[in-house]
Amino acid sequence: MTAIDLGAPVNTVLLLLILYQIQRLVFPSVKSPSETPNDFHTSYSWMPKAHPPVILYETYTPKTLVPFDGKDGGRILLAIKGKVFDVTAGRNFYGPDGMYGNFAGRDASRGMAKQSFDVEMLTPIDQALDKLADLTPSEIENMNGWIDHFSAKYIVCGELVENDSI
Ligand code: HEM
Repeated sequence: MTAIDLGAPVNTVLLLLILYQIQRLVFPSVKSPSETPNDFHTSYSWMPKAHPPVILYETYTPKTLVPFDGKDGGRILLAIKGKVFDVTAGRNFYGPDGMYGNFAGRDASRGMAKQSFDVEMLTPIDQALDKLADLTPSEIENMNGWIDHFSAKYIVCGELVENDSI
């Protein structure tokens, strides 16, 4: 059996390398940055620049929903059968210049059921919620189809209840 010649330059280098790696494992660098980095560099202790936007599930009334009509460039919400959808991502449809902008900030149930954006489809915001009692089965089916479409595409961010009930 040949003994390893630790004096040979190549072995000395390898030995030093191994010792260096061992000391890095045993005494890892714990230097903490003066500020929390917000980009990934070499450590895992970093934070995103800003918290990603959160959507809270809230209770709305016709009056509190109406400011979310997107006219100020902000969020756009609409309701169908008591479910409030955040349709901000569909600003092209529901923004002030959108084809369906009439539904923004409103209870869109009747319009969705009857496939109409006539102004009579919208219940005035100071009145009781539309009970939709006169809808035909096919109109209800149509409205439910829209609920499925919206549920797949947008986030349900709240429920719509009567004015002054919260
Ligand atoms: C002239 C008649 C109409 C035309 C040409 C039309 C056209 C369109 C088109 C091209 C889209 C986009 C489809 C997609 O990319 O997924 C769309 C979506 C839609 N349409 Fe119409 N539409 C008409 C009438 C109506 C009416 C009367 C309503 C009333 C409820 C309506 C409600 C909607 C809704 C809610 C969407 C979905 C938008 C979204 O995904 O956020 N449309 N329409």
